[in-house]
Amino acid sequence: MRTNQPQTIYLRDYRVPAYLVDTVDLRFELFEDGARVHSTLAVRRNPESDAGAAPLELDGDSLVLESVALNGQALAEGAFEDRGDKLIVASVPEQFDLTVVTWIEPQNNTRLEGLYKSSGMFCTQCEAEGFRCITFFPDRPDVMSRFRTRIEADRSAYPVLLSNGNDVERGELADGRHFVTWEDPFPKPCYLFALVAGDLVEKRDAYTTGSGREIDLRMYVEPRNAEKCDHAMDSLKRSMRWDEEVYGREYDLDIFMIVAVDDFNMGAMENKGLNIFNSSCVLASQDTATDLAFQRIEAIVAHEYFHNWSGNRVTCRDWFQLSLKEGFTVFRDSQFSSDMGSPTVKRIEDATLLRTAQFAEDGGPMAHPVRPASYMEISNFYTLTIYEKGAEVVRMIHTLLGPELFRKGSDLYFQRHDGQAVTTDDFVKAMEDASGRDLSQFRLWYEQAGTPVLNVSDDFDADQGVYRLTIAQAIPDTPGQTGKKPQHIPFALGLLGSKGESLPLRLAADQGDAPTDRVLELTQAEETFEFHGLAERPVPSLLRQFSAPVRVHYPWTREQLLFLMSHDPDGFNRWDAGQRLAVDVIQSLIGTPKDTAVDSRLVTAYRHLISDSSLDQALVAKMLQLPSEAYLIELSDSADVPAIHDARERVLKHLAIALRNELVACYRRNLESGAYAVTPDQIARRSLSNTALAWLLQINDEEGRELALRQFRSADNMTDRLGALRALVNSDYEDDRAQVLEAFYERFRDDPQVVEQWFSVQAASDRAGQLPQIRALLEHSAFDWKNPNKVRSVIGAFAGQNLAAFHHPDGSGYDFLAEQVCRLDDSNPQIAARLVTPLTRWKKFAPAYSERMKAALERIRDKTGLSRDVYEVVHKSLA
Ligand code: ARG
Ligand code: ZN
Repeated sequence: MRTNQPQTIYLRDYRVPAYLVDTVDLRFELFEDGARVHSTLAVRRNPESDAGAAPLELDGDSLVLESVALNGQALAEGAFEDRGDKLIVASVPEQFDLTVVTWIEPQNNTRLEGLYKSSGMFCTQCEAEGFRCITFFPDRPDVMSRFRTRIEADRSAYPVLLSNGNDVERGELADGRHFVTWEDPFPKPCYLFALVAGDLVEKRDAYTTGSGREIDLRMYVEPRNAEKCDHAMDSLKRSMRWDEEVYGREYDLDIFMIVAVDDFNMGAMENKGLNIFNSSCVLASQDTATDLAFQRIEAIVAHEYFHNWSGNRVTCRDWFQLSLKEGFTVFRDSQFSSDMGSPTVKRIEDATLLRTAQFAEDGGPMAHPVRPASYMEISNFYTLTIYEKGAEVVRMIHTLLGPELFRKGSDLYFQRHDGQAVTTDDFVKAMEDASGRDLSQFRLWYEQAGTPVLNVSDDFDADQGVYRLTIAQAIPDTPGQTGKKPQHIPFALGLLGSKGESLPLRLAADQGDAPTDRVLELTQAEETFEFHGLAERPVPSLLRQFSAPVRVHYPWTREQLLFLMSHDPDGFNRWDAGQRLAVDVIQSLIGTPKDTAVDSRLVTAYRHLISDSSLDQALVAKMLQLPSEAYLIELSDSADVPAIHDARERVLKHLAIALRNELVACYRRNLESGAYAVTPDQIARRSLSNTALAWLLQINDEEGRELALRQFRSADNMTDRLGALRALVNSDYEDDRAQVLEAFYERFRDDPQVVEQWFSVQAASDRAGQLPQIRALLEHSAFDWKNPNKVRSVIGAFAGQNLAAFHHPDGSGYDFLAEQVCRLDDSNPQIAARLVTPLTRWKKFAPAYSERMKAALERIRDKTGLSRDVYEVVHKSLA
């Protein structure tokens, strides 16, 4: 139990390590009742440190110390101090070997940090600070060592024994045990260490690098998952090729391994040569995974693979620099996904996530810069800001420099810092040095939290033919940060003439032909740009491609938005115009009487989208999605969720009634023909037909119901089966709902990834996911408190997606969440801290809601023995 208050750690307190560890020799004895870890470190004083002959301090957590020896001599009692979280050896020579033996209990490790067991196998998760749960060690990323790891275990229960690098020795031991020794030639921080021991099947493939090296590719999964590996393996090969072609980066070891584990706090982990994945982020088959899952898997496999350079070969100096590897790697995986599929759709998806969830984070109590200045628990900083906003920051550098100079910059970065632990500033410096550009003001993107707001106004001087665009930027205050400076913002735009044609963007200084698409660089609190030679007042298309993670306010009329929806050559802004129009229509209906008219122009616009099959169907599929409730909440100051839910639903039903025949036709036109494939074209078709189905069921359409039931029974893939299931679950056809849920469960009850989907379809449904039903799901035999995916699929889906039920005016949703957070805090603090997030946004809601949310937070705060993870989130939220 925690008695003293958690400490805040500051970037400004960073000091180089007093001691370095050149090599680590590990021996794991794995048993059913625990594991013994023998660790020998080759330690020497760090010549860069001014700490001199300071005591040696090693980090530890939940370890039973058995012995300590220095240069082979056991240390006597008083020669070292075991403080639990630190092992201190007061006097050490300049260079020495330290051998530490610890005993740990992986079978009782429910935090899923360090070494733990998941469905009978041993596995590890060491990022950020899990290695200290395995043995005493300087657990910080700027200590890089060469690891040699010997694993010993029972041969029949654990035939497969894996760690980083190459297997150099294996053999038999007494009592049916065996061992394998692994050696990783690349020095690495301990957070990249991994170990796996289990009864797993091996899937093998091979990849030949551009320079002709043959790489052994291996996936290890439980036998029942043997048929679900192909997609990840293909994704891996595409990633390896892409990183060579686009970044000139080749793989460096002879073996690359991927392991799937069911119990995992996050998506996946880039351990050197041995990536470990949450099963749901790697296993797929046509029958069990949706299009979305296929795409997610491809992106995550790529992400972890790309870390081999952006993260492993060049790593982070300290955890404040987390975005150095995560922001850059998310940028790289998004470029990859964009190249593999539809670039416009990928951009829409990234911008949607950012505007819905990252902007909310930026506006909430946990707001922090891309490079934070302080934290209490680093696990709480694996955030949308570090990952997604961090990726947007790298993307802006790419936009400002252009692809060639950006590549020169990344080449310089990798060459200059290979084998080092560095900072985000080193990354920007490499970009500057390679390009000759000055990015000093741009660095504020790393230091200032909050989402910049751009207020745009314009006027047209008909006599002069000059169009003036004035852009003012302001960054809101965030906890601990006020009075922010203007940032350097790439602002892409175009101007459209009345016939929809692209007009030249001629600034006064321009000579020769003017472009019709250009990137302005904003650097001032307010600046005006003059475009010359225009015969009429243009319609502005602003922040094309979402060229910066900012909010843009411009007073477009509904007519102008309709015009941009059908004419903007920038696909992203076409979609954005449709979203802005739908937001405007929905917002104007909030709190109005039920029979208030819906703007008929929205119906006309949607009719056009649904009926015109000459349009890019992938874009249409996105344009048909109404703005989510979460986004509508994000846009409001004092949200009344049931009222927002109601207004949105009214618009959806109005559209569905008016376009009923078009929806049926759209459904039939897009019904799948031919063999299932995850291509942009087929994904768009399935998305369109399932949207049509969902809308028809919202208006109790009998034909829609029959189509859904037929699709549910005959689908040959999970996207369509789940699409039909979801449409029926969210409908008023109660008997059908019960039947399809039951049939689905019976068919897939042995497949955890599908059961997770089955849970979340219900938990996210305003019909099937009311609180009593949610409580029933927690009692279901397939629910497992120890499995983070199950917790997320019920509790996370309820609080994060079923917003009208979660924000029930009586506060029962908040009380429920508080209760579950307290329960989980004892077993898995990381997951508990994540689940609190919806409550932390309490200031965003109308008083009747926010007061109850705050009360729920206070109840969590008052729980005894709160983890550091939850403590930080709750206290910052109540501050
Ligand atoms: N580095 C991993 C990734 O983004 C995430 C691991 C984070 N783990 C954690 N327990 N916070 O690929
Ligand atoms: Zn990552």
